[in-house]
Amino acid sequence: MKGTFPIDKFQSIETPFYYYDTELLWRTLNVIHKEVERYERFEVHYAIKANANPKLLNIICQAGLGADCVSGGEIEAASKAGFPANKIVYAGVGKSDWEIRLGLEKGIFCFNVESLAELEIIQQLAAEMNTKANICLRINPNVGAHTHANITTGLAENKFGIALGDMMDVIEKAHLMSHIHIMGLHFHIGSQILDMGDFEALCNRINDIQKQMEQHNIRIDVINVGGGLGIDYAHPNRVSIPDFKAYFECYARHLKLRPYQHLHFELGRAVVGQCGTLIARTLYVKQGTHKQFAIVDAGMTDLIRPALYQAYHKIENISSEAPLATYDVVGPICESSDVFAKSIDINSAHRGDFIAIRSAGAYGEAMASHYNCRQLPKGYISEEL
Ligand code: LLP
Repeated sequence: MKGTFPIDKFQSIETPFYYYDTELLWRTLNVIHKEVERYERFEVHYAIKANANPKLLNIICQAGLGADCVSGGEIEAASKAGFPANKIVYAGVGKSDWEIRLGLEKGIFCFNVESLAELEIIQQLAAEMNTKANICLRINPNVGAHTHANITTGLAENKFGIALGDMMDVIEKAHLMSHIHIMGLHFHIGSQILDMGDFEALCNRINDIQKQMEQHNIRIDVINVGGGLGIDYAHPNRVSIPDFKAYFECYARHLKLRPYQHLHFELGRAVVGQCGTLIARTLYVKQGTHKQFAIVDAGMTDLIRPALYQAYHKIENISSEAPLATYDVVGPICESSDVFAKSIDINSAHRGDFIAIRSAGAYGEAMASHYNCRQLPKGYISEEL
Protein backbone atom coordinates (compact mmCIF):
# COMPACT_ATOMS: atom_id res chain seq x y z
CA MET A 1 0.00 0.00 0.00
CA LYS A 2 1.34 3.42 -0.97
CA GLY A 3 0.61 6.75 0.66
CA THR A 4 -1.70 9.21 -1.03
CA PHE A 5 -0.24 12.56 -1.99
CA PRO A 6 -1.51 15.60 -3.92
CA ILE A 7 0.89 14.99 -6.81
CA ASP A 8 -0.69 17.55 -9.13
CA LYS A 9 -0.01 20.21 -6.51
CA PHE A 10 3.61 19.04 -6.21
CA GLN A 11 4.28 19.76 -9.90
CA SER A 12 4.97 23.44 -9.38
CA ILE A 13 7.12 23.06 -6.26
CA GLU A 14 10.86 22.88 -6.44
CA THR A 15 12.17 19.57 -5.11
CA PRO A 16 13.36 18.35 -2.69
CA PHE A 17 10.92 19.54 -0.06
CA TYR A 18 9.20 18.30 3.06
CA TYR A 19 5.49 17.76 2.86
CA TYR A 20 3.57 17.70 6.15
CA ASP A 21 0.11 16.17 6.33
CA THR A 22 -1.48 18.39 8.96
CA GLU A 23 -4.65 16.33 9.02
CA LEU A 24 -2.56 13.41 10.30
CA LEU A 25 -0.72 15.69 12.73
CA TRP A 26 -4.05 16.85 14.17
CA ARG A 27 -5.33 13.29 14.43
CA THR A 28 -2.13 12.33 16.25
CA LEU A 29 -2.47 15.29 18.63
CA ASN A 30 -6.10 14.42 19.28
CA VAL A 31 -5.18 10.85 20.19
CA ILE A 32 -2.50 12.17 22.57
CA HIS A 33 -5.06 14.51 24.11
CA LYS A 34 -7.63 11.76 24.52
CA GLU A 35 -5.16 9.33 26.11
CA VAL A 36 -3.55 11.89 28.42
CA GLU A 37 -6.90 13.17 29.58
CA ARG A 38 -7.56 9.81 31.21
CA TYR A 39 -4.87 10.55 33.77
CA GLU A 40 -5.19 13.57 35.95
CA ARG A 41 -1.66 14.76 36.34
CA PHE A 42 0.03 13.80 33.06
CA GLU A 43 1.43 16.66 30.97
CA VAL A 44 3.00 16.35 27.54
CA HIS A 45 5.72 18.57 26.16
CA TYR A 46 6.73 18.44 22.53
CA ALA A 47 10.48 17.95 21.99
CA ILE A 48 11.18 20.78 19.57
CA LYS A 49 14.44 19.23 18.41
CA ALA A 50 12.42 16.71 16.39
CA ASN A 51 11.07 19.43 14.12
CA ALA A 52 11.09 23.17 14.70
CA ASN A 53 9.20 24.13 11.55
CA PRO A 54 7.15 27.16 12.72
CA LYS A 55 3.99 25.96 10.96
CA LEU A 56 4.08 22.68 12.88
CA LEU A 57 5.03 24.39 16.15
CA ASN A 58 1.98 26.58 15.79
CA ILE A 59 -0.34 23.61 15.46
CA ILE A 60 1.30 21.72 18.32
CA CYS A 61 1.04 24.80 20.52
CA GLN A 62 -2.65 25.21 19.61
CA ALA A 63 -3.19 21.59 20.65
CA GLY A 64 -2.07 22.56 24.15
CA LEU A 65 1.25 20.76 24.46
CA GLY A 66 4.17 22.33 26.28
CA ALA A 67 7.65 22.67 24.75
CA ASP A 68 10.84 20.80 25.54
CA CYS A 69 13.86 22.80 24.41
CA VAL A 70 17.57 22.05 24.22
CA SER A 71 18.99 25.44 23.25
CA GLY A 72 18.37 29.16 23.49
CA GLY A 73 17.34 29.06 19.84
CA GLU A 74 14.65 26.52 20.63
CA ILE A 75 13.41 28.61 23.56
CA GLU A 76 13.07 31.54 21.12
CA ALA A 77 11.31 29.34 18.56
CA ALA A 78 8.91 28.03 21.22
CA SER A 79 8.08 31.55 22.46
CA LYS A 80 7.58 32.79 18.91
CA ALA A 81 5.17 29.94 18.19
CA GLY A 82 3.15 30.91 21.24
CA PHE A 83 4.16 28.35 23.86
CA PRO A 84 3.75 30.07 27.23
CA ALA A 85 6.93 30.29 29.32
CA ASN A 86 5.39 28.25 32.11
CA LYS A 87 5.07 25.33 29.69
CA ILE A 88 8.70 25.42 28.52
CA VAL A 89 11.33 23.08 29.91
CA TYR A 90 14.98 23.35 28.98
CA ALA A 91 17.49 20.48 28.96
CA GLY A 92 21.00 19.98 27.58
CA VAL A 93 24.44 19.09 28.89
CA GLY A 94 26.07 22.29 27.67
CA LYS A 95 23.93 25.32 28.39
CA SER A 96 25.79 28.58 27.63
CA ASP A 97 25.47 31.54 29.98
CA TRP A 98 23.30 33.51 27.52
CA GLU A 99 20.98 30.54 27.19
CA ILE A 100 20.60 30.22 30.95
CA ARG A 101 19.97 33.96 31.23
CA LEU A 102 17.37 33.75 28.47
CA GLY A 103 15.55 30.95 30.32
CA LEU A 104 15.63 32.97 33.54
CA GLU A 105 14.43 36.15 31.84
CA LYS A 106 11.54 34.33 30.22
CA GLY A 107 10.66 32.59 33.47
CA ILE A 108 10.52 29.11 31.95
CA PHE A 109 8.92 26.28 33.90
CA CYS A 110 12.23 24.60 34.66
CA PHE A 111 15.79 23.84 33.72
CA ASN A 112 16.63 20.17 33.46
CA VAL A 113 20.09 20.27 35.01
CA GLU A 114 22.66 17.71 33.92
CA SER A 115 25.64 18.26 36.25
CA LEU A 116 26.73 19.86 39.51
CA ALA A 117 28.99 22.22 37.53
CA GLU A 118 25.97 23.48 35.58
CA LEU A 119 23.88 23.84 38.74
CA GLU A 120 26.54 26.09 40.27
CA ILE A 121 26.50 28.38 37.22
CA ILE A 122 22.69 28.57 37.21
CA GLN A 123 22.83 29.51 40.92
CA GLN A 124 25.39 32.22 40.16
CA LEU A 125 23.50 33.68 37.17
CA ALA A 126 20.14 33.54 38.98
CA ALA A 127 21.70 35.37 41.96
CA GLU A 128 23.07 38.06 39.61
CA MET A 129 19.62 38.47 38.10
CA ASN A 130 18.01 38.43 41.51
CA THR A 131 15.69 35.61 40.61
CA LYS A 132 15.19 31.96 41.47
CA ALA A 133 15.69 29.13 39.00
CA ASN A 134 13.28 26.22 39.03
CA ILE A 135 15.14 23.06 38.26
CA CYS A 136 14.71 19.33 37.77
CA LEU A 137 17.82 17.23 38.12
CA ARG A 138 18.39 14.98 35.16
CA ILE A 139 19.31 11.62 36.57
CA ASN A 140 20.94 8.95 34.48
CA PRO A 141 18.81 5.96 35.47
CA ASN A 142 21.18 3.35 34.03
CA VAL A 143 18.35 1.72 32.12
CA GLY A 144 19.22 0.40 28.67
CA ALA A 145 16.81 0.77 25.78
CA HIS A 146 16.47 -1.60 22.83
CA THR A 147 17.24 0.92 20.15
CA HIS A 148 20.12 2.16 18.02
CA ALA A 149 23.38 2.64 19.99
CA ASN A 150 23.68 6.26 18.80
CA ILE A 151 20.37 7.25 20.31
CA THR A 152 20.37 5.57 23.73
CA THR A 153 21.06 7.98 26.51
CA GLY A 154 20.16 6.27 29.78
CA LEU A 155 23.16 4.00 30.35
CA ALA A 156 25.70 4.57 33.13
CA GLU A 157 28.67 5.81 31.10
CA ASN A 158 27.08 8.60 29.14
CA LYS A 159 27.52 12.34 28.89
CA PHE A 160 23.87 12.86 29.84
CA GLY A 161 22.55 13.40 33.34
CA ILE A 162 23.81 12.95 36.87
CA ALA A 163 24.96 9.45 37.83
CA LEU A 164 22.69 7.66 40.30
CA GLY A 165 25.57 7.41 42.76
CA ASP A 166 26.03 11.21 42.80
CA MET A 167 22.33 12.05 42.99
CA MET A 168 21.93 12.48 46.76
CA ASP A 169 25.05 14.57 47.03
CA VAL A 170 23.90 16.94 44.26
CA ILE A 171 20.42 17.25 45.79
CA GLU A 172 21.90 18.13 49.18
CA LYS A 173 24.10 20.78 47.59
CA ALA A 174 21.18 22.14 45.56
CA HIS A 175 19.11 22.55 48.71
CA LEU A 176 21.77 24.84 50.11
CA MET A 177 21.76 27.10 47.04
CA SER A 178 19.87 30.32 47.65
CA HIS A 179 18.64 30.87 44.08
CA ILE A 180 17.76 27.32 43.18
CA HIS A 181 14.41 25.65 43.71
CA ILE A 182 14.33 21.90 43.11
CA MET A 183 11.04 20.87 41.61
CA GLY A 184 11.78 17.37 40.55
CA LEU A 185 13.67 14.75 38.67
CA HIS A 186 14.13 14.26 34.95
CA PHE A 187 14.95 11.08 33.01
CA HIS A 188 15.28 10.03 29.39
CA ILE A 189 16.43 6.60 28.29
CA GLY A 190 16.63 6.92 24.52
CA SER A 191 14.67 7.33 21.34
CA GLN A 192 12.70 5.15 18.87
CA ILE A 193 11.68 2.77 21.67
CA LEU A 194 8.87 0.36 20.81
CA ASP A 195 9.28 -2.13 23.63
CA MET A 196 7.09 -0.96 26.53
CA GLY A 197 9.29 -3.12 28.78
CA ASP A 198 12.00 -0.46 28.48
CA PHE A 199 9.67 2.21 29.84
CA GLU A 200 8.52 -0.21 32.53
CA ALA A 201 12.17 -0.68 33.56
CA LEU A 202 12.46 3.10 33.89
CA CYS A 203 9.31 3.18 36.06
CA ASN A 204 10.77 0.54 38.37
CA ARG A 205 13.99 2.49 38.72
CA ILE A 206 12.07 5.68 39.49
CA ASN A 207 9.99 3.83 42.10
CA ASP A 208 13.23 2.87 43.87
CA ILE A 209 14.51 6.43 43.66
CA GLN A 210 11.23 7.74 45.08
CA LYS A 211 11.65 5.53 48.16
CA GLN A 212 15.17 6.83 48.63
CA MET A 213 13.88 10.43 48.38
CA GLU A 214 11.23 9.79 51.00
CA GLN A 215 13.73 8.23 53.37
CA HIS A 216 15.62 11.52 53.18
CA ASN A 217 12.47 13.64 53.42
CA ILE A 218 13.02 15.15 50.01
CA ARG A 219 9.87 16.34 48.27
CA ILE A 220 9.64 15.82 44.52
CA ASP A 221 6.73 17.53 42.78
CA VAL A 222 7.57 16.81 39.16
CA ILE A 223 8.76 13.63 37.54
CA ASN A 224 9.75 14.05 33.92
CA VAL A 225 10.29 10.79 32.06
CA GLY A 226 11.55 12.32 28.81
CA GLY A 227 10.42 11.01 25.45
CA GLY A 228 11.43 8.09 23.32
CA LEU A 229 8.24 6.50 22.02
CA GLY A 230 9.03 5.14 18.56
CA ILE A 231 7.11 5.05 15.30
CA ASP A 232 6.55 2.28 12.74
CA TYR A 233 8.99 3.17 9.97
CA ALA A 234 8.08 0.00 8.05
CA HIS A 235 4.34 0.72 7.92
CA PRO A 236 3.70 4.47 7.78
CA ASN A 237 0.30 3.94 6.13
CA ARG A 238 -1.05 1.15 8.29
CA VAL A 239 0.38 2.42 11.59
CA SER A 240 0.34 6.15 11.10
CA ILE A 241 -0.31 6.93 14.78
CA PRO A 242 1.87 5.39 17.50
CA ASP A 243 0.31 3.40 20.32
CA PHE A 244 -0.08 6.27 22.79
CA LYS A 245 -2.67 4.29 24.73
CA ALA A 246 -0.15 1.55 25.59
CA TYR A 247 2.55 4.13 26.28
CA PHE A 248 0.64 6.24 28.80
CA GLU A 249 -0.96 3.15 30.31
CA CYS A 250 2.51 1.70 30.91
CA TYR A 251 3.41 4.73 33.04
CA ALA A 252 0.04 4.81 34.77
CA ARG A 253 0.35 1.17 35.71
CA HIS A 254 3.99 0.95 36.70
CA LEU A 255 5.00 4.33 38.06
CA LYS A 256 3.93 4.93 41.64
CA LEU A 257 3.08 8.59 41.38
CA ARG A 258 2.37 10.26 44.72
CA PRO A 259 -0.96 12.16 44.90
CA TYR A 260 0.68 15.59 44.70
CA GLN A 261 3.10 14.72 41.90
CA HIS A 262 2.86 15.63 38.21
CA LEU A 263 4.23 13.38 35.50
CA HIS A 264 5.77 15.12 32.50
CA PHE A 265 6.57 13.64 29.09
CA GLU A 266 8.76 15.00 26.29
CA LEU A 267 7.69 13.38 23.05
CA GLY A 268 9.23 14.34 19.75
CA ARG A 269 9.31 11.62 17.11
CA ALA A 270 5.96 10.11 18.08
CA VAL A 271 4.22 13.48 17.55
CA VAL A 272 5.60 14.52 14.16
CA GLY A 273 7.41 11.51 12.66
CA GLN A 274 4.68 10.06 10.48
CA CYS A 275 3.14 13.30 9.20
CA GLY A 276 6.28 14.31 7.29
CA THR A 277 7.53 13.03 3.94
CA LEU A 278 10.59 14.11 2.01
CA ILE A 279 9.57 14.54 -1.62
CA ALA A 280 12.32 14.25 -4.23
CA ARG A 281 12.41 13.86 -7.98
CA THR A 282 14.27 11.16 -9.84
CA LEU A 283 17.13 12.76 -11.77
CA TYR A 284 18.70 9.76 -13.44
CA VAL A 285 18.41 6.02 -13.54
CA LYS A 286 21.91 4.67 -13.83
CA GLN A 287 22.63 1.12 -14.85
CA GLY A 288 25.61 -0.26 -12.89
CA THR A 289 27.31 -3.61 -13.46
CA HIS A 290 25.15 -5.50 -11.00
CA LYS A 291 22.78 -2.83 -9.78
CA GLN A 292 20.50 -0.06 -10.84
CA PHE A 293 20.73 3.30 -9.13
CA ALA A 294 17.85 5.70 -8.84
CA ILE A 295 19.63 9.02 -8.36
CA VAL A 296 17.28 11.52 -6.74
CA ASP A 297 17.64 15.23 -6.07
CA ALA A 298 17.37 14.87 -2.27
CA GLY A 299 20.46 13.85 -0.36
CA MET A 300 21.84 13.32 3.11
CA THR A 301 21.82 17.10 3.52
CA ASP A 302 18.02 16.95 3.48
CA LEU A 303 17.60 13.75 5.51
CA ILE A 304 20.69 12.46 7.27
CA ARG A 305 19.17 9.59 9.24
CA PRO A 306 19.96 6.77 6.75
CA ALA A 307 23.58 7.91 6.39
CA LEU A 308 24.11 8.63 10.09
CA TYR A 309 22.20 5.79 11.77
CA GLN A 310 21.58 3.37 8.88
CA ALA A 311 17.95 4.24 9.58
CA TYR A 312 15.24 2.69 7.44
CA HIS A 313 12.71 4.96 5.71
CA LYS A 314 10.09 3.48 3.44
CA ILE A 315 10.51 4.77 -0.11
CA GLU A 316 7.78 4.94 -2.74
CA ASN A 317 7.66 6.03 -6.35
CA ILE A 318 4.42 7.97 -6.12
CA SER A 319 4.36 8.91 -9.82
CA SER A 320 4.15 5.42 -11.17
CA GLU A 321 2.19 2.20 -11.10
CA ALA A 322 4.68 0.47 -13.41
CA PRO A 323 5.98 -2.98 -12.40
CA LEU A 324 8.45 -3.12 -9.53
CA ALA A 325 12.17 -2.87 -10.14
CA THR A 326 15.14 -3.01 -7.75
CA TYR A 327 17.24 0.05 -7.04
CA ASP A 328 19.76 1.59 -4.74
CA VAL A 329 18.15 4.97 -4.08
CA VAL A 330 20.95 7.52 -3.73
CA GLY A 331 21.41 11.26 -3.48
CA PRO A 332 23.70 13.70 -5.27
CA ILE A 333 26.10 14.44 -2.40
CA CYS A 334 29.81 13.68 -2.76
CA GLU A 335 29.84 11.03 -0.01
CA SER A 336 29.46 7.31 -0.47
CA SER A 337 27.16 7.21 2.57
CA ASP A 338 24.65 9.39 0.69
CA VAL A 339 22.35 6.42 0.21
CA PHE A 340 18.68 6.34 1.24
CA ALA A 341 18.22 2.61 0.65
CA LYS A 342 19.96 -0.33 -0.98
CA SER A 343 18.29 -2.95 -3.17
CA ILE A 344 14.71 -1.88 -2.63
CA ASP A 345 11.77 -2.52 -4.88
CA ILE A 346 9.79 0.46 -6.09
CA ASN A 347 7.66 1.02 -9.15
CA SER A 348 10.01 1.31 -12.10
CA ALA A 349 11.47 4.83 -11.96
CA HIS A 350 11.99 7.38 -14.71
CA ARG A 351 13.41 10.87 -14.80
CA GLY A 352 11.00 13.29 -13.18
CA ASP A 353 9.14 10.74 -11.05
CA PHE A 354 8.32 11.89 -7.52
CA ILE A 355 9.97 9.75 -4.87
CA ALA A 356 8.44 9.86 -1.38
CA ILE A 357 10.75 9.14 1.55
CA ARG A 358 8.32 8.43 4.33
CA SER A 359 8.23 8.90 8.12
CA ALA A 360 10.59 11.85 7.84
CA GLY A 361 8.73 14.36 10.00
CA ALA A 362 11.06 13.89 12.97
CA TYR A 363 14.78 14.64 12.80
CA GLY A 364 14.53 15.28 9.06
CA GLU A 365 14.13 18.97 8.28
CA ALA A 366 15.56 19.76 11.71
CA MET A 367 18.87 18.05 10.91
CA ALA A 368 19.27 19.37 7.36
CA SER A 369 22.53 21.07 6.46
CA HIS A 370 24.13 23.28 3.81
CA TYR A 371 26.88 20.75 3.01
CA ASN A 372 27.99 21.02 -0.62
CA CYS A 373 26.53 24.56 -0.56
CA ARG A 374 23.08 23.10 -0.93
CA GLN A 375 19.96 25.01 -0.03
CA LEU A 376 18.00 23.86 2.98
CA PRO A 377 14.84 21.99 1.98
CA LYS A 378 11.60 23.94 2.42
CA GLY A 379 8.70 22.55 4.39
CA TYR A 380 5.09 22.83 3.19
CA ILE A 381 1.99 21.92 5.12
CA SER A 382 -0.88 20.30 3.28
CA GLU A 383 -3.32 23.20 3.48
CA GLU A 384 -0.97 25.74 1.91
CA LEU A 385 -0.61 23.80 -1.34
N1 LLP B 1 13.87 14.44 25.89
C1 LLP B 1 15.22 14.36 25.84
C2 LLP B 1 15.99 14.70 27.01
C3 LLP B 1 15.86 13.94 24.65
O1 LLP B 1 17.17 13.85 24.62
C4 LLP B 1 15.07 13.61 23.52
C5 LLP B 1 15.69 13.20 22.26
C6 LLP B 1 13.67 13.71 23.63
C7 LLP B 1 13.11 14.12 24.83
C8 LLP B 1 12.74 13.37 22.49
O2 LLP B 1 12.87 12.06 22.13
P1 LLP B 1 11.85 11.37 21.11
O3 LLP B 1 10.47 11.35 21.73
O4 LLP B 1 11.88 12.14 19.85
O5 LLP B 1 12.42 10.01 20.93
N2 LLP B 1 18.30 12.37 15.78
C9 LLP B 1 17.93 11.05 16.28
C10 LLP B 1 17.15 11.13 17.58
C11 LLP B 1 17.85 11.89 18.66
C12 LLP B 1 17.03 12.01 19.91
C13 LLP B 1 17.67 12.92 20.88
N3 LLP B 1 16.94 13.14 22.09
C14 LLP B 1 17.16 10.33 15.19
O6 LLP B 1 17.03 10.87 14.09
O7 LLP B 1 16.72 9.20 15.40
